[in-house]
Amino acid sequence: MALAFKKETFRDDYTYRNSPEAIRRFPFPFPEDRYMYSVNMEPHVPGAKGSAVEHILDVDEHYVAECADKAITLAQDPGRYAALPHTMDAQWDVLELIMDALANDYPEQFKLSKNGNVWSWENKPLNIKDTFTFGDRDTLPMEPFEYIGRQIQGDWTILDQRDNDLYVDAGIVTSQADWSLMFDAGMSFMQWHGPVPQAHEMGIFERALKYLLNMQYGSPVRRFNWTMTINPRLDTSPENYEQWGQDRNTVTPQNAGEKVHLRVELQTLYRLPRSNGIVFSIRCYLISLEDLATYPRWAKRMHRVLRDLHPDLAEYKGLVKYRDAAVQWLSKFDDGAPLELGTQAE
Ligand code: HEM
Repeated sequence: MALAFKKETFRDDYTYRNSPEAIRRFPFPFPEDRYMYSVNMEPHVPGAKGSAVEHILDVDEHYVAECADKAITLAQDPGRYAALPHTMDAQWDVLELIMDALANDYPEQFKLSKNGNVWSWENKPLNIKDTFTFGDRDTLPMEPFEYIGRQIQGDWTILDQRDNDLYVDAGIVTSQADWSLMFDAGMSFMQWHGPVPQAHEMGIFERALKYLLNMQYGSPVRRFNWTMTINPRLDTSPENYEQWGQDRNTVTPQNAGEKVHLRVELQTLYRLPRSNGIVFSIRCYLISLEDLATYPRWAKRMHRVLRDLHPDLAEYKGLVKYRDAAVQWLSKFDDGAPLELGTQAE
């Protein structure tokens, strides 16, 4: 696939934009007019050609700009990467997973050759070329998880499985929707999900954890999550709240189309072969309401979901201050006629 990488920013002047092709393949997450949490997990098998789930890992036109934004965040706050010493096996597992997937699915951009344990890696878009010994940390410029984590879109955490639970023992997290790696490090599955409303009472986390503890190597799973963000900002972390929190007060029914972005997370989970850990990746897709409305069917659906969203979820997702303005902006696309099930655009 020919990929043209865009020059764009996710902060300051916010030049991030989606091309018509990127809008077309946007992973719109709402098959119905109403949204509530569920155990929405499915096997991570190849999806439709050109879609965000065609490949194991999705590389798109924003790849280079997102890696650059990640590097800025890590330079400003090196604590966004953290790994406990016992995660080294899992770190190599993740490096292998990512390099194999990129080299297989995007051979024009990435090349991997293995000569026993001596591996040569070429990342053309980021202009990186290295030869190293798989398993020998000293042959890479940094820990393997950080090395590869800087070369892939999205946030990644490594989970250790012990005592029938999962613990976040490593992470590279620079584009999160208001949660903190430092805060969640060492917590268990139920503990880090503590702030989420409604879902505990519905038994969702109990069932999801059971599913994950039994996940097998070679059978990854995925789910979609969503929230909203003002301006196309990747780093909406609690650490930098003062840089973006105020933006929520600037939305009006006139500018909502441009300012309010739907933020969809494609979350994938893989069992790791050597460490028996799990790696959890959160790939963030941003689209302004204006661009979403390229397909009026999506705008109509979004209008209904947002208008009727449970107040606890609106509060938790931080939408309260601008929800009315966004609903008003979207309402012009909604004629009230029934919409058939499904996430497809027109
Ligand atoms: C094992 C890997 C996972 C990790 C590391 C993880 C991590 C997180 C974190 C850090 C949050 C934000 C909590 C906060 O507000 O501080 C969150 C939210 C949430 N998680 Fe997970 N999660 C994982 C798997 C799952 C699974 C398998 C489900 C399946 C149902 C799930 C469902 C949710 C839901 C519904 C929310 C609320 C999101 C929202 O409304 O925006 N998570 N997760």
